[in-house]
Amino acid sequence: MSGGQIDSVMQEDRKFPPTADFQAAAKIGSFAAYESLYEESIRDPEKFWGELARKDLHWFKPFNKVLDWQPPFAKWFVGGTTNVSYNCLDAHLNSWRKNKAAFIWEGEPGEQRTITYAQLHREVCKFANSLKSLGLKPGDVATIYMPMVPELAIAMLACARIGVVHSVVFGGFSAEAIADRNNDAKAKVVITADGGWRRGKLLELKATVDTALAKSPTVQNCVVFQRAKNNVAMKDGRDHWWHDITAKASADCPAEQLDSEHPLFILYTSGSTGKPKGIRHTTAGYNLFVKKTFEWVFDYRDDDIFWCTADCGWVTGHSYIVYGPLSAGATTVMYEGAPNWPEEDRFWDIIERHRVTILYTAPTAIRAFIKWGDHHVDKHDLSSLRLLGTVGEGINPEAWMWYHRKIGGERCPIVDTWWQTETGGIMMSPLPGAIATKPGSCTKPMPGVVPVLLDEQLQPVGPNQGGMLCIAKPWPGMLRGLWGDDDRYVQQYWTKVPGNYLTGDNSRVDNDGYYWIMGRIDDVINVSGHRLSTIEVESALVSHPNVAEAAAVGRPDELKGQSVVVFVTLKSGEANDALKTAMKQHVRKEIGALAVPDDIRFTGSLPKTRSGKIMRRLLRDIAAGKESVQDTSTLEDYSVLAKLRGDEE
Ligand code: PRX
Repeated sequence: MSGGQIDSVMQEDRKFPPTADFQAAAKIGSFAAYESLYEESIRDPEKFWGELARKDLHWFKPFNKVLDWQPPFAKWFVGGTTNVSYNCLDAHLNSWRKNKAAFIWEGEPGEQRTITYAQLHREVCKFANSLKSLGLKPGDVATIYMPMVPELAIAMLACARIGVVHSVVFGGFSAEAIADRNNDAKAKVVITADGGWRRGKLLELKATVDTALAKSPTVQNCVVFQRAKNNVAMKDGRDHWWHDITAKASADCPAEQLDSEHPLFILYTSGSTGKPKGIRHTTAGYNLFVKKTFEWVFDYRDDDIFWCTADCGWVTGHSYIVYGPLSAGATTVMYEGAPNWPEEDRFWDIIERHRVTILYTAPTAIRAFIKWGDHHVDKHDLSSLRLLGTVGEGINPEAWMWYHRKIGGERCPIVDTWWQTETGGIMMSPLPGAIATKPGSCTKPMPGVVPVLLDEQLQPVGPNQGGMLCIAKPWPGMLRGLWGDDDRYVQQYWTKVPGNYLTGDNSRVDNDGYYWIMGRIDDVINVSGHRLSTIEVESALVSHPNVAEAAAVGRPDELKGQSVVVFVTLKSGEANDALKTAMKQHVRKEIGALAVPDDIRFTGSLPKTRSGKIMRRLLRDIAAGKESVQDTSTLEDYSVLAKLRGDEE
């Protein structure tokens, strides 16, 4: 224990190889093929990425050096000029894909729009010219605060086309959050909509932006897309209707020839404390990384209908709704609303009607589907699906099994993709035709990605010991820094383990060399000198038939250092002491006495971020009976905290 490794207590040895049919049709169709691709990428990374970049991206001017690495600052494809919007749009216009659907969009109230690559190109050019007419220049920053309508993607691509750096702020954030981000990035324009729909309710986006703009001195203009036709105030000289400025704009807007390292976007993520960090991504390396990982992980084919259910306010939407799929020429489904509107079967209905072949969603959604019940799924024909994916949190093995059986009909591989806003694209995941899956494991690294696991003394840990997950080599999709704060970038990611990128997650590797993410470093529970991972304790609870969701945290304990407290939501059964006892016995049987919770609390819901991650740091304070002084601005539903505190009294 001296090295501060984390003890793995989880027993999970189910293994699911791809079916022979899937494997035969897959682009990377054997483990040997994956291994040789991986080895090639490690043997000579610059040759590997250089060749792909030449082949997969359009270059106005070729690069003369693949990588300039002055740790921790990387430049990829040095000296080259390209354009992400060109690679996503223009690159397809001289091929048959010109009239292929880029987006199949569905509004929450039920409207549908299909937009081809040629149509998307035209809309993007018109909007890019509109932004130019407002005086925007390469390097200026645009905040985008919109519902999930195609114009959100059009705005992102228009910015990319003219070198304007976008900062998408999730449509659920407050005026305060928008103003903070406007001010940190010195945004010149805000692109928004009058309103949007969520669970049947109107979101008054423009009104929220108005409040934010009162505190955003750098913003000179605001463009408003008319979505919900609600009444909004338009300020003369500052506010412009999207339909007015684009009506006058020319559809001819050649893509700006941008340096490989020109900033493409900023995306703010909330650190656990303090002000949000503006993660900075740039042009060529990011574009190549999301295109290749999209093709590899989703075994992408031209006739696929791909649906990533994320919002463009998160990195998942940037990389796997917009930039990855479009640069690969894919058809992507985009949905505006909630999964339970008008009924809890909305996702299955969308899959059936659009014949979706690949579904990429989050564990939090999967746990909600399980709770809502199988009858919603049974009403629909999901036979078009061939591949499933997850992202955002670890998936509990029992939730994985439900996804596999109920949604995948036991025929679809599941790609559990581990990555971060900072990494730009997927870092670890099964390649579905090549790597047998195990429920709860993100399996193997992507080509070019070199993970290492270290204990607190920075020594490598052995098999089945958890350690800090670091990345030893630069990769093209990596963040290039934090907006305006290089010191914080160095401090946060590169100081604790010199020369390595510190992910902030723990992980272990099993005897087959498979990676299992064990949660955030800060969330480890230390019981009598044994360091336990949250996900392992939670997964043991989720495998109990009555449990829908569980969050495990440590509470200070005089004898043991910490004891385990779990917060549990039920899908069935009565919340009583008998059930608590049964659950403790269940955990003892599944993973052993050490991990048995001292305290089990039933709750109707868990505090989550707006992207669906459980906020364990808030639960830690509640478990300890402390008034929380932590930042709660990313909390989705404030009433959950009040209820949890009330439960204690
Ligand atoms: O803790 C890991 C968890 O989500 C973190 C990254 O969050 P964010 O920057 O919001 O990006 C989410 C979309 C990529 C990681 O540090 N995480 C993400 N995917 C997984 C995961 N944990 C376990 N398994 C995953 N597949």
